[in-house]
Amino acid sequence: MTELRLSRLTPGDIDELTALERLGQAHPWREAWLSEALDDGHAECWGAHDGRGALVGHAILYRLPFEAELQAITVDPGMRRRGVARRLLERLIARAETWGSERMLLEVRGTNHGAQALYRAMGFVVDGRRANYYPAHAGRREDALLMSRDLMVGNAGSE
Ligand SMILES: CC(C)(COP(=O)(O)OP(=O)(O)OC[C@H]1O[C@@H](n2cnc3c(N)ncnc32)[C@H](O)[C@@H]1OP(=O)(O)O)[C@@H](O)C(=O)NCCC(=O)NCCS
Repeated sequence: MTELRLSRLTPGDIDELTALERLGQAHPWREAWLSEALDDGHAECWGAHDGRGALVGHAILYRLPFEAELQAITVDPGMRRRGVARRLLERLIARAETWGSERMLLEVRGTNHGAQALYRAMGFVVDGRRANYYPAHAGRREDALLMSRDLMVGNAGSE
């Protein structure tokens, strides 16, 4: 079992976060977008550090009025299939449940079969497809799959 420490990332983590995003994502978030997420009171950026303290995975969750949205998740290519993303998603699901979110939502490229397998393994189902949503290679575009997972609602505001 890989030794992992999960923690909230802060603006001081921007360089390591940007480097991981560039290393692990075919379509990385820009540093400015990552900085915005780190500063956004409606977002939480979680990092997974290995036993030596290196950032090997991250995930970004936004709090919406009734739902939570997974905006990004990236694992270091050298650390994949060791449960890093699963651990991050479990943490985000727990966070969203403490917020009282009814569902967790996400969008994923139609060609990203690895991420889709991860989300299915974590209980997400496909709700629909948004045609030509993402820019792709050579000026083309590709569809987004819309996925969601019901959460346990512990919200005192609901009866
Ligand atoms: C998708 C991604 C985050 C998965 O991270 P990971 O740490 O390797 O995933 P885990 O090891 O936690 O996988 C948990 C389960 O998800 C499924 N899964 C994950 N990656 C998979 C893949 N490439 N192919 C098939 N199933 C996969 C499996 O069921 C896996 O369990 P198993 O290894 O016991 O079979 C990682 O491949 C990645 O960073 N990809 C590039 C960025 C990206 O596409 N992000 C998502 C869209 S924004």
